[in-house]
Amino acid sequence: MSASHPDPYREADSQPDPEQLVAALEVRGRNANHARLTRRFLAFTRVGAGDAVLEVGCGTGVVLRALAARVGRRGRVVGVDPSRTLRAAAARILRGHPLRRSIALRAGDGARLPFAADRFDATLAVTVLLHVADPLAVAKEMVRVTRPGGVVAVQDQDFGTVAVTHPDRALTTRILDGVAARMYEEPWSGRRLPGLLRMAGLEPVRLQTDVFQDTTLEPYTKRFLERRAENAVRFGIVDPPAAQRWLDDLTAVVAAGAFVLTVNYYGAVGVKPRPAPARGRG
Ligand SMILES: C[S@@+](CC[C@H](N)C(=O)[O-])C[C@H]1O[C@@H](n2cnc3c(N)ncnc32)[C@H](O)[C@@H]1O
Repeated sequence: MSASHPDPYREADSQPDPEQLVAALEVRGRNANHARLTRRFLAFTRVGAGDAVLEVGCGTGVVLRALAARVGRRGRVVGVDPSRTLRAAAARILRGHPLRRSIALRAGDGARLPFAADRFDATLAVTVLLHVADPLAVAKEMVRVTRPGGVVAVQDQDFGTVAVTHPDRALTTRILDGVAARMYEEPWSGRRLPGLLRMAGLEPVRLQTDVFQDTTLEPYTKRFLERRAENAVRFGIVDPPAAQRWLDDLTAVVAAGAFVLTVNYYGAVGVKPRPAPARGRG
């Protein structure tokens, strides 16, 4: 097994404890702010009753479950993910779900989707392109499996836009920007999504900018900041006492009721062009 990639979602199954990622995705799914953000994005995609929808990089199925509610019993939702652990968790959670019969899970990589061309009304990837080596290859595959006139919809955070209240601005920037630069191919993935969809051949492309917000250091945000501090030590950006001081100062900010964390999310939706009508002879 290769040394694991700094981004745990790149190789979920080779993490020392992949079940931690299962818990992290479900905690995020239960965060009210995040759930609202997902709902607003799904409304923006205009996926509706009766649609056949593919979600690439479905993880534990947080978005699949929301999609199943949107497409209803006449619709169909398929989730594809390369991680055996995350797919197994998705299947486990779905067992008790009222719409489980509308949802199917498949193994697969976004750059080589195991589906024929033009199969889906809509193909989505939610907080996935940030984690892949070649986002354009994935976007082109998403276009291939979507029917002409159907939509490809992608949403990502943009780690160039994390704003957090902290007394030490220089240390905060060093930790947040330093870790993101080492973890992701493109930490500014979010803002690049409209350009990426156009490069993949979609037109028109619409953009929805949304903001995740937390003022109380909820479990999802707390875990995010603790992981950033751990990784800052792991990547040699700061030493352990500096990382601990950074976290302690954050705790004091929260206790003073002064904590704010925001991150921009960008959602882009593009339409797959219909082939030009064949010109008659003569
Ligand atoms: C942050 S999770 C998002 C999961 C889900 N979309 C959600 O919003 O809850 C990123 C997901 O992308 C998957 N992933 C990573 N590399 C991938 C690839 N090359 N193709 C498809 N999915 C991939 C991971 O296994 C993981 O499930």
